[in-house]
Formats: sequence, C-alpha cells, structure tokens
Amino acid sequence: MDRNTIDWSALERLRTAFLAGTAGAGDYWQSVADLASYDATFAQRIGWKWDYVLAELTRRGWSPPRRELLDWGCGSGIAARAFLDHFGADAVRKLRVWDRSSQAMDFAARRARTKYPGLEVAIGLTESPGVVLVSHVLTELDAETTSSLVDLAARAESVLWIEPGTYEASRALIAIRDRLRDHFNVVAPCTHQTACGMLAPQNQRHWCHHFASPPSAVFTDGYWARFANLIGIDLRDLPLSFLVLDKRSDAPMPSGAARVIGHPRVYKAHALLLGCDADGVHERQLAKRTLPEEFRRWKKGEGCVLQVWQREGDAITGAVDIASD
Ligand SMILES: C[S@@+](CC[C@H](N)C(=O)[O-])C[C@H]1O[C@@H](n2cnc3c(N)ncnc32)[C@H](O)[C@@H]1O
Repeated sequence: MDRNTIDWSALERLRTAFLAGTAGAGDYWQSVADLASYDATFAQRIGWKWDYVLAELTRRGWSPPRRELLDWGCGSGIAARAFLDHFGADAVRKLRVWDRSSQAMDFAARRARTKYPGLEVAIGLTESPGVVLVSHVLTELDAETTSSLVDLAARAESVLWIEPGTYEASRALIAIRDRLRDHFNVVAPCTHQTACGMLAPQNQRHWCHHFASPPSAVFTDGYWARFANLIGIDLRDLPLSFLVLDKRSDAPMPSGAARVIGHPRVYKAHALLLGCDADGVHERQLAKRTLPEEFRRWKKGEGCVLQVWQREGDAITGAVDIASD
C-alpha cells in the first residue's frame, strides 16, 4: 500500500477495539482500506514476531512438512506470508486462508497470489490441515471457538501459534500446550516435553514471553514515528508468546538445554536469567566475575536464548549456545 493512502482513523478504530477487548464481538473489517492499512502497520509488527519465531525454528533445525498450510484467522495474511518468505513458497503444497471475515480472506488470498504466483491459494477451512498457523486471535475468541480451534490444531501435523506476550495470552497458550502435548512433540519455545514449569505454584507470577526486534530502519522512519505516536506504542516493544508443535519425530535438544524467558535483569556485577528446562522454570544467576564474556553479551542484549549451562546450584558456571549446525 502507498503509505500516503493509509487510513489512520481506521487504525485508531481498530486499536480501540483491540484494546477494549471488543474486537471479538463482530467482524470489524469494514473495507479493503481497513485491511490494507492494518497490513502496512500492525501486521508488519506481527510479521517481525513471526520472523523471530521462524529464525528460532531454523536455529533448532526445524523445517515444515511439505503439506497444505492453513492460516486460521488470517486477517490480512501476514502470518502465511512471513512463513512462505522464510521457508519459500515451494515448502508447502498449497495455502489455505480462513477468517470469519470474507473480506479478510479475499485480501489475504489476493496478496498471497500476487506475491507467490506459482502457489495454489484457497479460501475456506479443511478438516485435516497439514500445517496450521494461528496468529493473534485468542483475545477475540470465546471458549467454544477456542476449543474447536484447538481440536482442529490437534488434527494437524504441525502447529505454529503466536500471541501477544501478555500474561493472559501466555497462560492461555500454556493451557493449549497442556491439552495438545500428548498428540505432538513440543518444538518451541520449550526444550523439553514435560509439563510446563510455569504451572508450578511458585511460578504463578511469571509468564512465558519473549521479545522480537523490529528492523533498525524503523527507528529513523517518520512513517513509523507517526504510527507509534498515533497508536501510543513503543516501537522497540515486540513482546510475544508462542508455541510450535509437530507430530513428526523431533531431533531432541541436547541434555540440559535451557530456554531463557523474557528479558534478563542485568545488574552491575551479575544478571538474573529466567531459565526453562526439563526441571522447570528457575531464576539463574550469571556473575560477571565468573563469565565476563557471557555477562557482556547479555548486557548488550546479545545473549543466546537457547543454551546449555553448567551450574553450581542456581549459579551459571559455563554456557554454550545451541545451534542446529
Ligand atoms: C488481530 S486479527 C489478527 C489477524 C492475523 N492473524 C494477524 O496476525 O495479523 C484477528 C483476526 O481473527 C479473526 N477472527 C476473529 N474471530 C474469529 C472467528 N471466530 N473465526 C475466524 N476468525 C476470527 C478476525 O476477523 C481477524 O482477522
């Protein structure tokens, strides 16, 4: 979309509905301009979250089965396009988009057909999807619709699900993980297949969230400054919760693999990292004196969120990054 034709008042209306929690009440896509304006703004930010998750999947050595891809609650279709940009349009047999809004499905399908001319694109649901993408829909669904979406996901071979990094969204995804984990291998963000450590009573105040980063050009772009101002958001802030499941046998993570949750708290001489592994979710300490290089990476925001740690109690005494290659 030409940036000059963005309908800023439509974006304000959408933002109000998203924030007030009224978006679930009925179809809010009033026109193609709504979808195009959303696609050029909110959806781009969601796309950066997808890029973050897809990069982690590649780091973990995961690639999709060559099956039909379903983007459920597609909106303008950013989730499918991020997926196809990352893995290539040849990585799937066909794209299927579904939304309660027919305008949204038409928009998402049209964008995909234009961007991937050789790809077959269909509109509508299927009973047994191959790969299901779900992105930023939970706050709009009632319990019954969520439950049938989870049933549909259970019939897929792979599920990739991203929601905002709020306490509520994370806890909802954890409940979905718990419901589905007997049917799937849990690929990410977890490093293990056991019950989620966040469910332990001592972790009630925590939630499983992570932070994506926007491209640096965003910070010097007047267009994004206007969007941030209008919508009242911090452009740096891209919190997300996510869940990736797969029925195929998974290359297991190295023993002791840990996933860092949220931002570590970095102090003068040590950092506190909330680490999740097969033993649960625990706060670990990284002392500058013990591992100065590693401490410096976290201080600069460049720490690797997937690591194997040597520990003495909660103190990290050695750290090795996990990468698939
Ligand atoms: C916040 S938008 C997210 C769109 C897109 N997935 C993304 O990440 O940009 C939520 C989408 O869910 C759709 N939606 C809401 N309730 C739905 C339902 N019961 N069935 C199907 N889609 C629904 C809305 O129409 C909207 O397109």
